[in-house]
Amino acid sequence: MSTARIVADLDFPIGEIDRRLFGSFVEHIGRCVYTGIFEPGHPEADARGFRRDVLALVRELGVTLVRYPGGNFLSGYNWEDGVGPAEKRPRRLDLAWFSTEPNSFGTNEFIDWCRAAGTEPFFCVNLGTRGPDDARRLLEYCNHAGGTELSELRRAHGYPAPHGIRLWGLGNEMDGPWQMGGKTAYEYGRLARETAKLMRWVDPAVELAACGSSGREMPSFGAWDYEVLDQCYEQVDCLSLHQYFTNFDGDDVEFLAAPDLMDRYIREVVAVCDAVGAKHRSSKKIMLAFDEYNVWWKARPTGKLRKLEGWPEAPAFNEEIYNFADALVLGGALLALLNNADRVKIACLAQLVNVIAPIMTEPGGKAWRQTIFFPFAHVANLARGVALRQTVESETFVSKTLGELDYVLSSICHDAAAKRISIFALNRHLTEPIDLAVELRGAAGSLRFENGEVLAGFGLESVNSAAGEAIHPSPQREATVTDGALRTRLPPASWNVFTLSYD
Ligand code: AHR
Repeated sequence: MSTARIVADLDFPIGEIDRRLFGSFVEHIGRCVYTGIFEPGHPEADARGFRRDVLALVRELGVTLVRYPGGNFLSGYNWEDGVGPAEKRPRRLDLAWFSTEPNSFGTNEFIDWCRAAGTEPFFCVNLGTRGPDDARRLLEYCNHAGGTELSELRRAHGYPAPHGIRLWGLGNEMDGPWQMGGKTAYEYGRLARETAKLMRWVDPAVELAACGSSGREMPSFGAWDYEVLDQCYEQVDCLSLHQYFTNFDGDDVEFLAAPDLMDRYIREVVAVCDAVGAKHRSSKKIMLAFDEYNVWWKARPTGKLRKLEGWPEAPAFNEEIYNFADALVLGGALLALLNNADRVKIACLAQLVNVIAPIMTEPGGKAWRQTIFFPFAHVANLARGVALRQTVESETFVSKTLGELDYVLSSICHDAAAKRISIFALNRHLTEPIDLAVELRGAAGSLRFENGEVLAGFGLESVNSAAGEAIHPSPQREATVTDGALRTRLPPASWNVFTLSYD
């Protein structure tokens, strides 16, 4: 039997967990918006066309923030097309996904939907085909109280109160050759700087995220991030990161190492941010917005497949069906975010509905939870307060790309106000259980067990579908708390969650 030991002290935090770490992403792509969150005429749709069954699942998932409207779609989007009377809105070619965009859902519908879902909007401005002028005009339309042409236009559209959107993204993946209006790092850095300047003059309360590299695998990774920040360090608050995990070789051991790569990637980007800060002799720290991450490979269109024929409207594509292995990897990714809570303040699971998503829908029919829904819901609903530093002793395995890694990945969160501790633990051993002891210093006397859940016992390839959610958590009963320590057995290939409290 393998054993593992984790030690944490309530007085030694990594950093405060920003509630915006549990964000997601709604892009105009495939069936994410149309027949996803918005389907007028569906039996569950409200008067605005919002699917109530989907809204209920979004609330259950615990999503705190939603990025919108893209993604690659953003870089060709005219925000004016999506406001005002729906029947007057133009239909347009979307060159990101070779689809037809009807524009029947736009800015104001998205804000209404966020309010209904109980989440905060994270709006992005098009810096691909457009620029600072459109960004400042959109911000004035959204956030200015009244008395100007654009704020009065919003009021005339039925929104007398400003939307008060605080968080804004400056473009999307601007280093990508696939991006409409892609830029060099210098061009984009200057553009981000000037756009940020204008946006802050319109509304000083905004928080701004600049585009980092669109992935660690980009040849310009690092150099891009450095140059962009060199141009706009004092004007922006965060730098964005994107990462999609793949398992093309069917090597599950290697696949389960993906969270360590995410952790490494975060630390590398932090190092680049701080190097620019040092060059500028700045006391400011740039935070990270990990605003796209997920498993994505089975339904990923590459090369020619990216180009759909016939300009379809809301085509069913990029609909990744998540298996149990994907849920384990996604759980590990969430741990990487928590364990870097001092610098990662925003994160968005890409995406929310149908397209690489935890929630699936049938047009006119059911909505259901994919396997990745569960680890996300656990963390979003239970990780509060601060993430704690940990020392982990675990048996190890060897990853081809990352070397020796612990079988056990974990995160411990302490909510001092509620006197509650949440422990999340992934056992990456595919065949062996692990006996785990978690010693929690600082709450020893009165520490008690509250609840435990586990996702385990499924084939790695098993999936959920409209016909049933075979994969779902069960109570984790193998846990005791004595002398300030949790002792438990982690089943092979398992995602485990424990809640403890103290007086
Ligand atoms: O999330 C799907 C796509 O992946 C986004 O549109 C883009 O930003 C990324 O490449």
